[in-house]
Amino acid sequence: MPTISDTLVCRLAEADHVAVLTGAGISAESGIPTFRDPDGLWDEFEPQELANVEAFLDNPTLVQGWYQRRRQVVEEAEPNAGHRALKALEAHVPSVSVVTQNVDDLHNRAGSDAVIELHGNITRNYCVDCERTAAPEAVDAAIRNGEPACCPACDGLIRPDVVWFGERLPPEAVERADAATARADVLLSVGTSAVVYPAARYPVRAREHGAYVAEVNPDTTGVTPDVDESIRGPAGEVLPALVEAVADRSEEGAGAP
Ligand code: OAD
Repeated sequence: MPTISDTLVCRLAEADHVAVLTGAGISAESGIPTFRDPDGLWDEFEPQELANVEAFLDNPTLVQGWYQRRRQVVEEAEPNAGHRALKALEAHVPSVSVVTQNVDDLHNRAGSDAVIELHGNITRNYCVDCERTAAPEAVDAAIRNGEPACCPACDGLIRPDVVWFGERLPPEAVERADAATARADVLLSVGTSAVVYPAARYPVRAREHGAYVAEVNPDTTGVTPDVDESIRGPAGEVLPALVEAVADRSEEGAGAP
């Protein structure tokens, strides 16, 4: 087990608010490929090729089919020990916000109370014309017939509720993430290469506001030079050990005269 500092454990045990920035690495142990690792998601297509509105309008069936396959992987996956540990942290810290770049819904399914989805959610779909929510089954049925999935109400194309290249992030999510990172006593950056903005700026921003910042990642990342502490290991091992150490520290604190 990689070393976890006493400072981090103490700061977490004493924190009023903890922000956790997560990326694809936290879901890797659930079987969902990351983006940039060697066996990552982008081996078949370059992200720019499919994850943009022009590609979608040009070939909706191809883009809908690619997202359908990714959604099915998410539906078959389960939250892992890392997601569950972040839920468990809520028992020891008054307020925990999870700011995620992931479009899977594994933090929600693990039960985390405050999940801020910066890049949307692949399990949701909506019509590009009337913006009504569309059931994934409607997409699946159309794809089975080799047709583009269209809205039953207005016949507009159906797209996944994710942020594509060139699109704005959902303003409400950005606002909540900005607030959560600015008031954090501790920020954990977990399983992200920290190269995509604005998410990548949150660890730096939190530190500027006085937070203690630690990253959990087997490899170096874009924010490694800017964090107080790097814990080099998989989230599914490190996070449960970290939360257990915080629980032990909180109990010791509670017993003190
Ligand atoms: P990346 O694929 O860029 O980075 C995944 C990170 O997870 C790497 O730093 C790995 O070292 C790390 N990692 C792998 N296994 C891990 C494990 N078991 N525990 C902890 N860490 C592990 O994914 P993101 O940083 O999430 O945006 O990518 C950010 C954004 O880039 C994505 O949200 C996506 C993409 O463009 C959009 O689609 C808008």
